[in-house]
Amino acid sequence: MNPIYLGVNIDHVATVRNARGTNYPDPVTAAGIAELAGADSITTHLREDRRHITDRDVRIIRETVKTSLNLEMAVTDEILAIAVGIQPQKACFVPERREEVTTEGGLDVIGNMAKIENAIVKLDNVHTVCSLFIDPVKEQIDAAKKVGAPYIEFHTGCYANATSQEQLNHEIQTLREAAEYADSIGLGVNSGHGLNYNNVAAVAAIPQMNELNIGHSIIARAIFTGLPEAVKTMKQIMESARNNSSK
Ligand code: PXP
Repeated sequence: MNPIYLGVNIDHVATVRNARGTNYPDPVTAAGIAELAGADSITTHLREDRRHITDRDVRIIRETVKTSLNLEMAVTDEILAIAVGIQPQKACFVPERREEVTTEGGLDVIGNMAKIENAIVKLDNVHTVCSLFIDPVKEQIDAAKKVGAPYIEFHTGCYANATSQEQLNHEIQTLREAAEYADSIGLGVNSGHGLNYNNVAAVAAIPQMNELNIGHSIIARAIFTGLPEAVKTMKQIMESARNNSSK
């Protein structure tokens, strides 16, 4: 049985900080606490508008992280140059629109093959392992393979937003089949977006899933229970779903 890993996205600690322009709460501190509580990596998105995480946050987290930094990034010249300088252990390419509240859909790999391939090569040169944040769609999976991405991350928004049992069943089946297909062509498979304490188990149970990147629900719970409890409980739910799926 493959282990299932938890990447904790600490962006929303910075959202709270930036709401008042203070120097607290510090996402750097959150990254350390999340690691102590069992996070397998720290995920953070340096957005072009710097609405939450800043260049300073990414730089210090890269220096202090004990597990690995997974940098979510738009494939733009500016952010790519920063990523090449920072050399995160992992990078996840995401689409980015300034007016969106959060990343609303997957990357169009098919429409941006050359640009994405070039960015993967540049980051590969500094030993950063890339993944592409895509919808669980065969054509995008094939394109990710073609441009040389070692990993993909499925956008789980449709699953998380399902409003009926029928829709939920359909979306989880789509994720299952997409994970199986991606794995069969040699891609590593991660997932994220909108995963929470109530919906994560079915995704963690998919045997090909390697890492789940989860932010909002963990930081939201941490307000009430503290970050260590929030991280530990999420990991426990994921691991028990994975263990039960192989029985
Ligand atoms: N993975 C990627 C690529 C993302 O862009 C996000 C949102 O920043 C997440 C995971 C985490 O999503 P959420 O905050 O909804 O858990």
